[in-house]
Amino acid sequence: MRSILVTGGTGTLGKHVVERLVAAGCRVTVLTRQPRPGGPARQLKGDLITGEGLAAAVAGVDTIVHCATGARFRRVEQLGAQRLLELCREHAVGHFLYVSIVGIDDHPMPYYQAKLDTERLIADSGVPYTVQRATQFHDLALRIVSALAAPPVALVPRGFAVQSIDVEQVAGRVAELALGNPVGRARDIGGPRVQSLAELLEEYSAAIGRRRRVVRVPVPGKIGRAFEAGLNLLGPDGERLGGTFADFLSKRLSQK
Ligand SMILES: NC(=O)c1ccc[n+]([C@@H]2O[C@H](COP(=O)([O-])OP(=O)(O)OC[C@H]3O[C@@H](n4cnc5c(N)ncnc54)[C@H](OP(=O)(O)O)[C@@H]3O)[C@@H](O)[C@H]2O)c1
Repeated sequence: MRSILVTGGTGTLGKHVVERLVAAGCRVTVLTRQPRPGGPARQLKGDLITGEGLAAAVAGVDTIVHCATGARFRRVEQLGAQRLLELCREHAVGHFLYVSIVGIDDHPMPYYQAKLDTERLIADSGVPYTVQRATQFHDLALRIVSALAAPPVALVPRGFAVQSIDVEQVAGRVAELALGNPVGRARDIGGPRVQSLAELLEEYSAAIGRRRRVVRVPVPGKIGRAFEAGLNLLGPDGERLGGTFADFLSKRLSQK
């Protein structure tokens, strides 16, 4: 039986990855700072920043799926990966899978730069690895548009677009890769449509029945230019998966 450790296994993506790996018959351990009752898999208390619990979590696993993140992303993702990779070498773990983001190579956002550095650290570690990059999840697009829609006039960054993807599609692909052999950089995945934030906001406003006046505002600087250039969108070799933001929204709103 395959034994897999999932960091971030309580998060938006990780919980779906865990469900799929459990359904595939794997012995799954979720690393979490706060074990909670219930859940489909064994939870182990640990912290990627302090290193607490990591040695016990890694002992005896075949594969690690690293999808933890947080406000202190350099430490959770990069330092966390460094600690886990050291343990992978010690325990001869045969596969380290990292979830990353499409278009980070030349993107000045500090979060994206930290992810790129983490990818490089993994590639240079000597541990067999897979990196799966995905575009923004529909959940994140929803968080953005609901925040934009909060004030009476919505100030929408001009020229920003996303190609958001259903997190369950990402989880399906990550689980499939975790069950296979390491492939290095996997093919990028993204959602089916490129949509401007203004367009997503319009879909959201229509769905909740609350129209907003929209004012498009330029975002100055390198970060604004990177988004306007569409660096966060899938390139020609990327694979489009799953339903649209509108599909996700109608499902999400019908669950309320
Ligand atoms: N969101 C997007 O649109 C998107 C798009 C592409 C790729 N990604 C990538 O997908 C991955 C998952 O993102 P997500 O949105 O699913 O994240 P999320 O919902 O914010 O979940 C974060 C997870 O990280 C864990 N975590 C945070 N700090 C930790 C620490 N110090 N030690 C151990 N665990 C810690 C949390 O576990 P506990 O709270 O239980 O400890 C939680 O399970 C990330 O690598 C992200 O960059 C995200």
